[in-house]
Formats: sequence, structure tokens, C-alpha cells
Amino acid sequence: MQIDDYEKELNKLRKVNRILEKKLERSEIDRTRLEETNKKKEVLLKNVINDLEESQNKLAQRSQELEQTLINLQMMQNKMSVLGNLVADVAHEINNPIGFILGNLGPAEEYINSLLQLIDIYQNLYPTPFPEIRTKIEDIDLNYLREDLLKVLSSIKDGTDRIFQISSSLRNFSRADTEQKTAFNLHTGLDNTLIILKYRLKGNKNRPPIQIIKDYGTIPLLKCFPGQINQVFMNLLANAIDALEEFNIGRSADEIQSNPNLINIQTRLIECDNCIVIRIKDNGMGMSAETQSQIFEHLFTTKPIGQGTGLGLSIVQKIIIDKHGGMLDFNSVYGEGSEFIITLPVNIAGVDKTY
Ligand SMILES: Nc1ncnc2c1ncn2[C@@H]1O[C@H](COP(=O)(O)OP(=O)(O)OP(=O)(O)O)[C@@H](O)[C@H]1O
Ligand SMILES: [Mg+2]
Repeated sequence: MQIDDYEKELNKLRKVNRILEKKLERSEIDRTRLEETNKKKEVLLKNVINDLEESQNKLAQRSQELEQTLINLQMMQNKMSVLGNLVADVAHEINNPIGFILGNLGPAEEYINSLLQLIDIYQNLYPTPFPEIRTKIEDIDLNYLREDLLKVLSSIKDGTDRIFQISSSLRNFSRADTEQKTAFNLHTGLDNTLIILKYRLKGNKNRPPIQIIKDYGTIPLLKCFPGQINQVFMNLLANAIDALEEFNIGRSADEIQSNPNLINIQTRLIECDNCIVIRIKDNGMGMSAETQSQIFEHLFTTKPIGQGTGLGLSIVQKIIIDKHGGMLDFNSVYGEGSEFIITLPVNIAGVDKTY
């Protein structure tokens, strides 16, 4: 080989070497980049794993909370049913002594009248009594006493009648539901619920009493779970009262008087469909379209904390639709009022009594 040829070969080799060096340099850069990307990916992966662990912990915590809520709910349910039975028992126990009082009031009134008649006879036969008797008559103000005594008796009777009515309503309202449906008088259920809610319906310094307009039709006894149906009435009527009270805020007593607070309760038998329709209508606050779209949601409420839990209507829906195969509808105009319509299928077979 010539020197020239060597020289050429060397140059070639140098060139190849430079190319290789460049390649090496590039792959070095690529390697560093790859390492960096890997590190980033590793950090990302660690973050993802951390996030996953965190949400797993949160989920575990949430499921623990849910379990606790479930236990609390079960305890509450149990407490409610114990309380319901207790109220029914206490109401029953109260009715006995009230029965004694009511039973004895008649004879007491009779005895008092006889004694007063006896005094009249004495006074006729002895118009001029002994001084001690005259002094006593003046001391006790006999004329006023005899007038007032009868009023006292009548107010004792009224009060006792009312206690009797309240305790009977409480007993009926809180009656434990049987396993099977029983024939129930819906009007009694509505009336008992109204008696229990009486303290919320009566007037106060800000407003006159809420007027209840009953338009009861002739309907048959309904085979149902009476305790649950009473719960439905209680929730719908309590909501109507709340809506009226909300509507009254900022209105003067005169304004309320001229457009009084009303709750209409209508019952009808729709024979062609074999069902009973109950309408509960108020002229309270009504509901906005947004509220209307959410009212049956569990825990949805527009009321302040402590006043509403947002459970009422979801329970009503469950009872009417799931437990009794009925329907629940409503109409409402914001600022004008709301109406809830319950439709319950009647199984008339075996229940022919109407009221
Ligand atoms: N008659 C009504 N008039 C106006 N708004 C009503 C009426 N009934 C229900 N609502 C609206 O529907 C919401 C949900 O009612 P729901 O009975 O389920 O719960 P709540 O009354 O708020 O609380 P609670 O659990 O004590 O019943 C109420 O907060 C209210 O905004
Ligand atoms: Mg409610």
C-alpha cells in the first residue's frame, strides 16, 4: 500500500470515528433525557399511588361513616318504634283515669245541683237566717259562688274532654303497624293528625288560626298500614303549615287577615279507577321550579338547620308508591301555594263499609 492510500484510509477512519463520537454524544443526550423522563414518570407514578392510597383511605373512612350512620338510623328506627308503642301505651293509660273523671263529672254536677236546690228550699222556708249563717253567706258570696260553680264544672268537663280527645288521637296515631294491612278509616287518620297538630294551627300574636277546610267525600275503608298513612298525613300537613308560616313572614296581621291562611283537605272515591284521591292544598309560599325539581330527593330541604331534615317527602313517596302501590303528584305556583295529591288503589273486596 502507498503512503497516500494509508493517508486516505486514516481519514476515512477519522470520519467514521467522528460520526461515531457524534452518535455517542447523541445517545448520551438521549440517555440523560430518558433518565429524566423516567424520573418524572416515577414521581408521577408515586403521586398517583399516593392519591390512590389517599382515596382508598377516604373510601374506607366514608364506608365506616356510612356504617355508623346506618347503625344510628337503625337505632333511631328502633327508638321511634319503642317511643311509638310507649306513646300508645301512655295514651291508653291516661284514658282510664280521664274516663273516671268524665264518668264522675255527671253525678258531681247532679249532686251540686241537688245541694243548691236544698239551699233554695232552706232560704224559702227560713228567709231570716241565724247571724252565723248570714255572715257565712256574705263571706262566701253565695250568689256569685253558685253562678261560678256551674261554669267551673263546665270548664273542667271541656278540659277533660280535650285531654281525652288528644290522648285518643295519640293512641291511634302512634299505633304500631301490623304485619298485614288492615281496614282503616282515612278520615279518622286525618282528624287525629289535625288534633295532634292543633298547637301549630291555632292563632298567635302574629297571625289568626290557620283555617282547615275539610271536604270529605264518601269513601270506603282502606286496606293499608295505618301508622304509615298517618305519617304521610303528618308530613304533608306539617309542610303545609311550614309553607304558610314562611309566607306570613313580613306580612302584617291585617294582610294575613284579608288573605287568610288556609289548608284544604279533600277526599274522593274515584269509582271508575277504584281508587281514593286525597288532596292537601295550602295557600302558602309555594315552590320555585328549582325546588319543585328536587323535593323528593333524600335530605333536600329549603328550611333552616334544626327545622327541616329533608326526609319528609322522600318517606311519603316511599310509603305511598312502594308500600301501597299508589301515586303521589303535586302542583305548585311560587307565591300562591301548593297542592299534594295522593292516589291510593282500593281493594274493596271484603270491605263494603263506606263513611
Ligand atoms: N306544601 C309545601 N309548600 C312549599 N314547599 C314545600 C311544601 N312541601 C314541601 N315543600 C318543599 O320541599 C322541601 C322538602 O320537603 P320535605 O318534607 O321532604 O323536607 P322538610 O320539610 O324540609 O324537612 P322534614 O324532614 O322535617 O320534613 C321543603 O324543604 C320545602 O322546600
Ligand atoms: Mg317536611
